[in-house]
Amino acid sequence: MSRGLTGKRVILTGATGGIGRAIAKSLVTQGAQVALAARTAESLDELVTALKRYGGDVIAVPTDVTSPDDRQRLVEKVIATFGGLDILINNAGIGSWGHFATSTEEIVRRVIEVNFFGPVELTRLALPHLTNGVEPCVVLVASMCGRKGMPAWPEYSASKFALVGMAEAWRAEFARFDVDVLTIVPGMTDSGFRKNWIRAEGKADLRFERGMTPGDLATGIVRAIQGNRTETVLGGEARRLLRFNRYFPRLTDWLLARKVKKLYAAENS
Ligand SMILES: NC(=O)c1ccc[n+]([C@@H]2O[C@H](COP(=O)([O-])OP(=O)(O)OC[C@H]3O[C@@H](n4cnc5c(N)ncnc54)[C@H](OP(=O)(O)O)[C@@H]3O)[C@@H](O)[C@H]2O)c1
Repeated sequence: MSRGLTGKRVILTGATGGIGRAIAKSLVTQGAQVALAARTAESLDELVTALKRYGGDVIAVPTDVTSPDDRQRLVEKVIATFGGLDILINNAGIGSWGHFATSTEEIVRRVIEVNFFGPVELTRLALPHLTNGVEPCVVLVASMCGRKGMPAWPEYSASKFALVGMAEAWRAEFARFDVDVLTIVPGMTDSGFRKNWIRAEGKADLRFERGMTPGDLATGIVRAIQGNRTETVLGGEARRLLRFNRYFPRLTDWLLARKVKKLYAAENS
């Protein structure tokens, strides 16, 4: 299947982040109509202005994905404005960088609320409209941490694993409505992701600037939508890590544990 984007009616959450902006620009230049959702109204307005320069048919809908009222308003606004919905891109997400031993219940609940319950409940509201859409699909921007749990990312990994698991179950369930479910599994991307982290207490030498650009990732996501690819791993290091882990899972865990022990040696002594 080759899914055209011209005239497609799209909801994009997390639209104002590094990755969201790049996806929005890509969609708009392909002729899609896009509802941009994020919490901060000023950033959305600024994005709308920028995208209109490319002739974009876009609306801004300030939305906290954790709020049932906001989710409802977002879907209603899109149906009222575009007359339907063809693509839902669940991209909004937050991170929390630090070990479980120093984490809290509040952090676990917050990360899962934004990264899992938000997209899941938004999808529930969108599904009846997608069912009447044109070549409809749900896209879930997960993470390589959703296929391999990573130290210092326990809540984040759990939230993305949950999303990937839900997507796998939905894939067969939604087939009877002809709604496709596409999972994106990106590696590190130089997007400014850090600014939304709940905490930044990890010790590894993370170099997001060596990862993909948001533009590279957006291109991969748009290709996955056009090519209807069930699951797409994006980024060299994500592909390498996940492949290595598939063939050598125990060695991968041993190497990760060795690294953690080294980084935290001073705290153990
Ligand atoms: N960057 C990476 O290395 C990387 C790697 C793998 C996967 N990802 C995933 O890619 C997605 C986008 O990340 P990014 O790097 O673009 O992050 P980002 O720059 O921090 O952007 C996050 C976006 O989500 C929005 N957002 C945060 N909390 C929200 C909420 N409760 N309701 C609605 N919107 C909310 C933010 O806007 P407001 O704050 O205004 O709401 C912003 O638009 C996330 O799901 C992330 O987990 C990122």
